[in-house]
Order: sequence, then structure tokens, then C-alpha cells
Amino acid sequence: MNNKILIAASAALTISIAGLAKAEPQAEVLHWWTSGGEAKSVAVLQEEFASRGGTWTDMPVAGGGGDAAMTALRARVLAGNAPTAVQLKGPAIQEWYEEGVLADISSVAESQGWSDVLPASIAGHMKCEGTWCAAPVNVHRIDWIWANAAVLAENGISMPTSWDEFNAAANKLKSAGITPLAHGGQAWQDATVFEAVALGIGGPEFFHKAFVELDQNTLKSDSMKAVFDQMRTMRGFVDSNFSGRDWNLATAMVMNGEAAFQIMGDWAKGEFLAAGKRPGIDFLCASTPGDGFLYNVDSFAMFDVDGSDKEAGQMLLAELIVGKNFQKVFNMNKGSIPARVDVALDDFDPCAHTSAQDMAASNSGGSLLPSYAHGMALRGAQAGAITDVVTAHFNSDMSSSEAVEMLANAVANSM
Ligand code: BGC
Repeated sequence: MNNKILIAASAALTISIAGLAKAEPQAEVLHWWTSGGEAKSVAVLQEEFASRGGTWTDMPVAGGGGDAAMTALRARVLAGNAPTAVQLKGPAIQEWYEEGVLADISSVAESQGWSDVLPASIAGHMKCEGTWCAAPVNVHRIDWIWANAAVLAENGISMPTSWDEFNAAANKLKSAGITPLAHGGQAWQDATVFEAVALGIGGPEFFHKAFVELDQNTLKSDSMKAVFDQMRTMRGFVDSNFSGRDWNLATAMVMNGEAAFQIMGDWAKGEFLAAGKRPGIDFLCASTPGDGFLYNVDSFAMFDVDGSDKEAGQMLLAELIVGKNFQKVFNMNKGSIPARVDVALDDFDPCAHTSAQDMAASNSGGSLLPSYAHGMALRGAQAGAITDVVTAHFNSDMSSSEAVEMLANAVANSM
């Protein structure tokens, strides 16, 4: 090889290495974090991504619980144009993996030692046939009750520790002209309240049999009738404009004293905090009456896309999401607790401490359970079948006996 050719070849090599090294991380990120508290939280990831040279294209799809986001995702994948990274959780991760459209992020997970810092139960949700196919962000708890502290104090009410106490407090508030329960009549919000009531009234074993094992006898049981009875009672505690209301507007009703309580996952706390409200002073948190802990782990899955810039974006996102700093700052805003076990909670609020303690106690006591309403327990078809019945019951005069029959049949037909 003469010198000229050598120089030309080495120049070409340098250019292509520079090109590779310069693949600037790109990511189009589909998520449903659009409320005040949620937007503040996701901004932390956007900033970290940008500070590492990434370009973030935001694809927010409004709609609590993510139903609209999942519809948008399906349309994009069917069109052969999947987003780079998607907020996705629970068995839906494995469902998408089975369709052959997810990227393998094991190299990041292994180089960052995820197995050493994530609890096995959370890591299990992030794996597809042994490979890492999603990155966990947090642990949200579902079975929370939030209250306006001043409204309770003015009416001589303390946080209820049983459903009877809740009903008594709600009736008292109703007589005083205050909406007892801030609620948004959207199917996923009905399901959120329903599963908290089911855990409280039926207990952890009942919950597992009904919403994890889908046991027919449990679905039709007297305990399940009692759960629907309580849902009927609670229908009497919501205001007349509840239909279709977004969850954060329901949270705002508690903030401004129009309503006393909301039963909602702890993203509601993110909303209170973003509005400058202080836990224990302006608002109160307690687990809904009964034992157990319903968990909901947000995570991101990367979809198969072409282009070294997008692949670099996926790897960077995965690394940042499980990074220690992000897990702390994001979750302090979001209302959840970190998925990592090695993030100190010293700077977190008292509700987050309660969450962490209760989660540990439930884990050792066998009552740490996946939320069905937030897509952690069941595949889409089964969860959807249950929610349809819950909503149909809440919005009609259906009796509890009719509801349990319909529930058992809907689940059987969805298998
Ligand atoms: C998600 C939360 C989100 C909430 C309301 C839940 O399913 O896990 O991250 O804040 O829906 O949109």
C-alpha cells in the first residue's frame, strides 16, 4: 500500500470513528405525565438527558392511567413507526415483547448492576425471557386516602381507619355541605377506588385470589358482594359533576376544600406538593382501611428502532432512569418512592416514609400485591373485563349480586 492510500484509509477510519462516537442520543418519548406534578417530574429526566447531550422529542398523551397513551402506542407500532422509548408497565411489557418489537437493554442493566440495586419483585417485571426489556422508575402505592386537613379538623373528623368510620365521616361531611369524596368518573379511576376497597374489605388473600389468580369462586363470593355494596355507598359520596373529571381536578377539589377525601395513588401527592401544599399540615395521607400494599411500578421500555442516534438515546435513557440521582429527585416530585433500594429517603416527606415502611412490612408479611387497576397484575384483556363491570356497576343501579355474576362471566370470557 503506498503512502497516499494509507493516509486516505486512515483519514476515512478517523472520520467513521468520529461519526460513531458522535451518534448524538435521540429519543422520542411517549408518556402520559401531563398534570402539574407529573410534568415537573418528567422534566427531571428531560434535563438529565439534555445535559448528557441528548435530544428529547416529547410525545405526551394526556389521560390518567395511560389508556389513551396505550391506544396511541398501538397506532404507532402498527404504522411501523414506534417511538424510541415508551412509558409501559406490568404484563404489558411482556405482551409487547411477545410481539417482537422491544429492544434488549441488558447491556446497560448489566453494566450498571441493576440486579444488585433492584428488589427481585421489581426486577421480575422488567425481564422478558431472562433479558432486561424495561427500566423501572419508581414504586407508586395505590391504596391511599388523601384528605384536606382543615376540612377534617373543622368537622371534628380524623382519618378513617375502617370503612365504617369512612362512611360515618362521609355522611357527616355530606350533611355539612361538603363533597365527601372527590372522584373523577373515568373507568380507570373507578377501578382505582374499587381495588382499594377490595383490598380493604376482602383482605390480601382475597385480593390475590380475585385479581391475580382470577379464581371464579372468589369473584362471585359474598366478600366480593360486600365490595360492590361499599362501592354503591361511595357512589352516594361523590358530587353530581363527577363524570369524566380528570384525577388531578379531583385532587384540586381536596386542595381547595370543596371535597374532603380522595382515594388515589400517590401521584396525587405529587400534585399537592407541586401546588405548594404541605403534608401533615395542608393535606393528610393514610393508607386506605385494611391490610396490604398495592404497588404500581412505572417503567420505560425501548422499542426496536433504526439508527445509532436512537439506539444511543435508548441506552442513555435506560442508564439515567435507574440512576441514583434521577430516582431520588424524580420520585420526590412524583409522589412515589424509588425503585432502587439504595436511595436514602432522608429528604422525602413523611407519606413516602410510610410507603417505604409499609411496603417492607407487606413484603415480609406476604401482602405486597400488584395493582390490577394500574396494569401490574393482569394482561390487558382480563383487567379490561373487570374494569368494565366496575364502571357499569358504579354508573347504574345494578345490584351487588348482579355485579358479581357479571364479573365472574366477564373474566371467564376474557381468558
Ligand atoms: C401511573 C402514574 C400516573 C397515573 C396518573 C398511573 O397509572 O403509574 O405514573 O401518574 O397513572 O396518570
